[in-house]
Amino acid sequence: MRAVLVGPPGAGKGTQAQILASELSIPKVSTGDIFRANVSGGTELGKRAKSYMDRGDLVPDEVTNEMVRARLGEPDAREGFLLDGFPRNVAQAETLDGMLKEMGSALDAVLELKVDEDEVVKRLSGRRSCRECGRVYHLDYDPPAEEGVCDACGGELYQRDDDREDVIRHRLQVYREQTEPLVAFYADKGVLVTIEAIGEVTEVTGRALAALGTGS
Ligand code: AP5
Ligand code: ZN
Repeated sequence: MRAVLVGPPGAGKGTQAQILASELSIPKVSTGDIFRANVSGGTELGKRAKSYMDRGDLVPDEVTNEMVRARLGEPDAREGFLLDGFPRNVAQAETLDGMLKEMGSALDAVLELKVDEDEVVKRLSGRRSCRECGRVYHLDYDPPAEEGVCDACGGELYQRDDDREDVIRHRLQVYREQTEPLVAFYADKGVLVTIEAIGEVTEVTGRALAALGTGS
């Protein structure tokens, strides 16, 4: 399956992408995770991306598109993938269509996660992420067994630089202006499915698998 997750910051795209990718046996490709790994590794790509990410703006399309092209060309993505955080505007969506055409394929589904903005702000202000394995926690909804330590790998948990309330508000505005038009774009192409992304993580996963036509 070749699928995309779309939804506002904090909708639970990363949380669901990790579970769905494993359920569907396809790699999760998260542009946010790839950028963050490059920022912490101090690479040239990370240096170019950092200031945009800290402000909550989109990294320029030419940088992002080339990074995705390289990732989707890797052997494990040939038979399918789940994109999290890409595309983020109509120009990226058109580039993705072109890339897939060149490979003789197309998207099977675009899954929209719907959550209201107050919930998103609560989710992002309580989020903590593992520096080592990227597992995401929430101080109230999904706390680690030991404060500040990842259950999965023992790594240190940290708060993302872009999870400050002023940056969260800006990311939401960027979502409304640049990313939300993708909902109509993909609805027109007949590949959009939408689910409510509120409730327990496992309930949302069940809705997602059913919407993708892979649930029981
Ligand atoms: P990115 O990393 O993609 O951030 P985002 O879209 O803002 O999404 P988030 O990671 O904040 O949220 P999420 O939906 O994954 O939620 P999560 O599962 O963590 O992008 C960051 C930056 O990178 C961008 O601002 C931009 O600068 C750059 N970038 C990335 N892609 C780009 C692109 N294509 N083009 C240009 N620039 C790009 O969950 C959030 C919290 O809620 C967690 O604490 C979690 O535990 C909790 N939670 C999850 N599900 C539930 C639930 N059901 N109930 C209660 N809590 C829940
Ligand atoms: Zn970890």
